[in-house]
Amino acid sequence: MANLRSRGLPRACCLAALTAFLALLGTPGVHAASECAEELIYESREDIPPRFRWNPADVFEDREAFDDAVAAAEASIPEMGSWKGRLGNRTEDIVSALNASHELGRSVGEIYFFARIQVHVNASDPGAAAMFGVASALLARAEEAVSFVEPEIAALPRARLDALLEEPSMAPYRHVIDNVNRTKAHIRSSEVELVLAGAAELTLGPRDISDHLLNSDIVWPTVAGENGEDVQVTPATYGRISRSLDREFRRAGRAALLRTYEAFGNTLSASLATHVQGQAWISRVRGYNSSLERALDEVNVSARVVRSLVAAVHGNFGAVHNYTALRKRALGVETLYPYDAGVSLVPNGEKRYCFEDAWTMAMTFWREIFGEEYASVAETAFANRWIDVFPNTGKWGGAYAWVAYGNHPYMLLNWGGTFNDVVTLVHEMGHVVHMNLTHTNQPYHYSGTSVFVSEVASVTSENLFIDWAIERSEDPKERAVMLNAAVELAQGTFLNQILFHEFEEAIYDDAENGRALTKETMSAVYLDLITAYNGPDMTYNASDGIYFLRIPHFYLNYYVWVYATSYAAGEAIASRFRSGDQGVVDDFLSMLKLGSSVYPLEAVRVAGVDLLDPFVVGTVMSRFQNLTESLEMALDVASDAESVVTVSAESEGAASRAFPFLLLLALPLVTYL
Ligand SMILES: *[C@@H]1O[C@H](CO)[C@@H](O)[C@H](O)[C@H]1NC(C)=O
Ligand SMILES: *[C@@H]1O[C@H](CO)[C@@H](O)[C@H](O)[C@H]1NC(C)=O
Ligand SMILES: *[C@@H]1O[C@H](CO)[C@@H](O)[C@H](O)[C@H]1NC(C)=O
Ligand SMILES: *[C@@H]1O[C@H](CO)[C@@H](O)[C@H](O)[C@H]1NC(C)=O
Ligand SMILES: *[C@@H]1O[C@H](CO)[C@@H](O)[C@H](O)[C@H]1NC(C)=O
Ligand SMILES: *[C@@H]1O[C@H](CO)[C@@H](O)[C@H](O)[C@H]1NC(C)=O
Ligand SMILES: *[C@@H]1O[C@H](CO)[C@@H](O)[C@H](O)[C@H]1NC(C)=O
Ligand SMILES: *[C@@H]1O[C@H](CO)[C@@H](O)[C@H](O)[C@H]1NC(C)=O
Ligand SMILES: *[C@@H]1O[C@H](CO)[C@@H](O)[C@H](O)[C@H]1NC(C)=O
Ligand SMILES: *[C@@H]1O[C@H](CO)[C@@H](O)[C@H](O)[C@H]1NC(C)=O
Repeated sequence: MANLRSRGLPRACCLAALTAFLALLGTPGVHAASECAEELIYESREDIPPRFRWNPADVFEDREAFDDAVAAAEASIPEMGSWKGRLGNRTEDIVSALNASHELGRSVGEIYFFARIQVHVNASDPGAAAMFGVASALLARAEEAVSFVEPEIAALPRARLDALLEEPSMAPYRHVIDNVNRTKAHIRSSEVELVLAGAAELTLGPRDISDHLLNSDIVWPTVAGENGEDVQVTPATYGRISRSLDREFRRAGRAALLRTYEAFGNTLSASLATHVQGQAWISRVRGYNSSLERALDEVNVSARVVRSLVAAVHGNFGAVHNYTALRKRALGVETLYPYDAGVSLVPNGEKRYCFEDAWTMAMTFWREIFGEEYASVAETAFANRWIDVFPNTGKWGGAYAWVAYGNHPYMLLNWGGTFNDVVTLVHEMGHVVHMNLTHTNQPYHYSGTSVFVSEVASVTSENLFIDWAIERSEDPKERAVMLNAAVELAQGTFLNQILFHEFEEAIYDDAENGRALTKETMSAVYLDLITAYNGPDMTYNASDGIYFLRIPHFYLNYYVWVYATSYAAGEAIASRFRSGDQGVVDDFLSMLKLGSSVYPLEAVRVAGVDLLDPFVVGTVMSRFQNLTESLEMALDVASDAESVVTVSAESEGAASRAFPFLLLLALPLVTYL
């Protein structure tokens, strides 16, 4: 029962937020513009007013209550084991075993959650670390203890399964059984399953090897930074370097990065190739024609959806190429190089948003657009300390929403005061409301949602929020910042993901048809793709192909299309809102209440979006075109107003030297083209 773990780990932590989200935080005291009485990073959590901090006591009152829950869960493990081999003839046994496995999952999920969130806000809290150790061991035992349930049900004769679904006592589990029945052909005999389970660890090897190489063994080079100081170019720091306004720094940074990937290119490529071959082997053993088919089958999505997204992008390369051309004009460069792809087109345009002002703005948006039911969850969230707002030393870098069944959701932020932080708040609140409505309306076994539907929930509100904010802003420069954020979001969450998907399909196709995967073959595929996507205004040369080694997603097995697809669905729902469709709020809220009681595409259909309809898929590209054209106009207006927007990147870089920014976190997913 793999879903025990998926409920136990932070999900919904959102590529969109990652993309929107390189949090550049000033050193405390240096950023004089802070009028908010907000520190940029707190040394001690004690210094943060409690209303901006989580209250873990909502889950367990204290360590003693945690220990009691651990003891109770441990005691129920042998009881769970007693059902093994007994699921068959008596329906009440199946119901009881499902109930017992869900009870165990629920309580272990809560235990794990309680420990984990406390580690996330303070990695050097020894009490939290100790609880997390206990919780992790318990989680592993619990997973083992329930692992027989689905295979035993899947092994029932066809007639028995069909009869089972007719029984009234099974009605609450209908979709669970349907899912088992649907994928039955790919669940193998217990011997084969044992071999597959044993091999699972081996298939994680290549990623581990590549991580070790990239993060500890390779000595990354340094280049001269914005102030002439030495800056080390690593996979983690490159995100910031690629956004620097100092063009020479970006150029040297990228050259150093690529040189290093090239130097270790054969080893890193062999590692990725082994990973892909391992996945291809699992797909074959499970009787799938391809790894893509396996990935799609897990969420019951038809290959047609993904194919039509790819086709929509190819059919609209003109709009993407025009964005490259706009970038070239806006930056005022003679030749546009890949190291120019990450820098904002609205340099120095960032105004600082104090959290509470941003909150008031977001609250107004939620109330106006989604109505009272949605807004009241948000209001409750802040009033009751569901949100951990500010960064502190030892806090997990990033943003997420997470929940354990039976509790309210918890949202983690690292507030930095930029517009992207406001967008991240709205994105994460999309997850929080989704979790709240699903948990209020579904039993435990339907409370998990797929990443797919979760991202639809957050992308819809994020896109609507950006529109809403642009409409209200009076400041042309602020509007340009917002449009720039919207375009980056569309590029990061949609276009780049489709590009990555195409790369994955190409290398899996080679692996699954016995062709070699080497540094040279993979670089060539990647270079062709980035050239096609960016068009003639971006100047690449052969050395740029090696960049594929920078993308960690390729170790996540056909995962990127999920983000792209949910972006498209979120965009389609947002366009229903924009068209003033009366029923859309109710439909959207209904979708948020479904949890995993239906398949993802059915859930999206409840919100009025049929992803099999090519028109729906097409809207995402018209939106991209609209955004880039609006951005172009905004840049003109903003530059008329203040004539600072399109000044050359070099002089902006010089100006920014007064602010020595400190990179708190560099999510390695930020700029990829
Ligand atoms: C983290 O926990 C340790 C141990 O309790 C404490 O000394 C430290 O101040 C905490 N860190 C923060 C940022 O509060
Ligand atoms: C179901 O009943 C049959 C016949 O009574 C028995 O042989 C079989 O072991 C039972 N199966 C299970 C899983 O209890
Ligand atoms: C297990 O069954 C009991 C009694 O029907 C029910 O109250 C409880 O919610 C069920 N637990 C889960 C996790 O489904
Ligand atoms: C189980 O799946 C098969 C197809 O594999 C289908 O024919 C059958 O109707 C399904 N049974 C139920 C009860 O849905
Ligand atoms: C998902 O699977 C079921 C079979 O269990 C099928 O009837 C349904 O059409 C599939 N597709 C979607 C989009 O739900
Ligand atoms: C997979 O291959 C089998 C046998 O060749 C074929 O019947 C089936 O339609 C294929 N499935 C897909 C999704 O292509
Ligand atoms: C790209 O820009 C050109 C020139 O401005 C314009 O004629 C064309 O319609 C644009 N294409 C797309 C797909 O936006
Ligand atoms: C959901 O939000 C409401 C407030 O709108 C709150 O009363 C309720 O306890 C929350 N439930 C969960 C599971 O978060
Ligand atoms: C490729 O372009 C980069 C700049 O993007 C440059 O540093 C490098 O020398 C070029 N390599 C070749 C082989 O032309
Ligand atoms: C983009 O769409 C909005 C409405 O959705 C419209 O008001 C605006 O004029 C469009 N902009 C461009 C440049 O097409």
